[in-house]
Amino acid sequence: MSTLLNEKQGLTDEEIVSIGSEYCSYGDKVFAHGTPKVFRDCEGVFMYDSEDTKYLDLQMWFASCNLGYKNKRIRDAVVDQIDTLPQISSTFLFDYKSLLSEKIAKANIKRFGEKGRVQFNVGGSQATEDALKLVRNYTGKQRMFSFFGAYHGRTAGAACMTAGYRYREPFGHFGDQAHFVPYPYCYRCPYGQHCDSCDHYCVKQLRREFEDNCSGLHNKATHQSECAAFFVEPVQGSGGYIVPPKGYFKELKKVLDDFGVLFVADEIQMGFYRTGKLWSIEHFDVTPDVITFGKSLTNGLNPLAGMWAKEEIINPETWPSGRSHSTFCNNPVGMRAGYEVMSTFEEEDFEKSIAEKGKYFLYGLKQLEKKHKRIGTVDGLGLALRIECVTEDGYTPDPKLCKDILLEGYKGDLMYEGKKCGIILNTGSHYNNSLTLVPAVTISYEEIDMALSLIDQLFTRLS
Ligand SMILES: Cc1ncc(COP(=O)(O)O)c(C=O)c1O
Repeated sequence: MSTLLNEKQGLTDEEIVSIGSEYCSYGDKVFAHGTPKVFRDCEGVFMYDSEDTKYLDLQMWFASCNLGYKNKRIRDAVVDQIDTLPQISSTFLFDYKSLLSEKIAKANIKRFGEKGRVQFNVGGSQATEDALKLVRNYTGKQRMFSFFGAYHGRTAGAACMTAGYRYREPFGHFGDQAHFVPYPYCYRCPYGQHCDSCDHYCVKQLRREFEDNCSGLHNKATHQSECAAFFVEPVQGSGGYIVPPKGYFKELKKVLDDFGVLFVADEIQMGFYRTGKLWSIEHFDVTPDVITFGKSLTNGLNPLAGMWAKEEIINPETWPSGRSHSTFCNNPVGMRAGYEVMSTFEEEDFEKSIAEKGKYFLYGLKQLEKKHKRIGTVDGLGLALRIECVTEDGYTPDPKLCKDILLEGYKGDLMYEGKKCGIILNTGSHYNNSLTLVPAVTISYEEIDMALSLIDQLFTRLS
């Protein structure tokens, strides 16, 4: 690691790590892979370490910076907000809160023909919490559906909707855990079916659970279902960037409508054009009852998240003042950044450019799949892409290879156009064997070529 001095703080990388190791909690993810990497700068799709080596970032602060680092337009707006109205109590209203709410509500009228309202909070998990309270408030029920592989956050309520036991194990029993059902992960179908011929077998299984009077999901006599809502990631994020078949959610929605269960689309990771549309659920011709969002809402320039819901669920009579609130849910810097992000997306044709770049990237990945036996499959929607690492047999998940590739990318000793560089990837999935690729949607074709070259080098080195 470099011993170059950081001009501003005069700290070496070693000193930063040494102080952090002693005084930072290990409870978040910074120490997940041992000694953490230190970065000094970022711009566009790149991070820079203390030797000024550049790292192509295909993780982008876990999908929080869809418009690239140091995006000038958003930066300037935030600076202007800091110079005008940087702080305001959350009992008062100001221009950009109204304007951002209007933008999101009108975007949904355009997309779904539904009037609705928006409520903000400070992070994705808190948006999940608010959505849980909202649907409980509306239906009077507390049980929910969620998917195997789902990630909806780690606060106590959200952890009940997140599938992995590892997120709950140290903390004792979580009473309100969701009823989890299999995600349409067709490459590794949990029912052993084939996507071309299954005729939505998994949805039919769910319908059977409702129709069977002894399964516990529905009471025919009272026409009541036990669960209030189904929390859905339309493209599964931490579960490994899994794209369901086109007709899946329409079929699922029919079942939910038949049995009076609300549909909550969690767009926290896939929203704001990750998949080429404002919301990933738009690819599936379904109108959700509630949408949660966060991450790229502010392009990472101030924590802000929120939920949108149909008017009948969130109108002032049903959801009156004080049903949910957090001191910073009203913060003006976040609202201003969010307004600028939404305006940017409205003014350029991201739908077209992301679809085209996504196709180009996926085509390149398919060439790598042909070349490298240890790539089991690649897939994606827009610029949400995945590579499954597998063993020599071409199918068995290989989480070790996946992690080794991630860490190799951090070393910064790959080569591109005669220069040393690194790559920042992310891992996830049901078997911890997928590299999930989350480039800024502003990535250029040249940078996609660079990404493909670096990924090729990593698989050549390690497999
Ligand atoms: C789909 C989804 N929902 C909720 C969350 C939780 O968001 P946060 O980390 O901001 O609390 C995440 C975070 O990765 C996510 O991907």
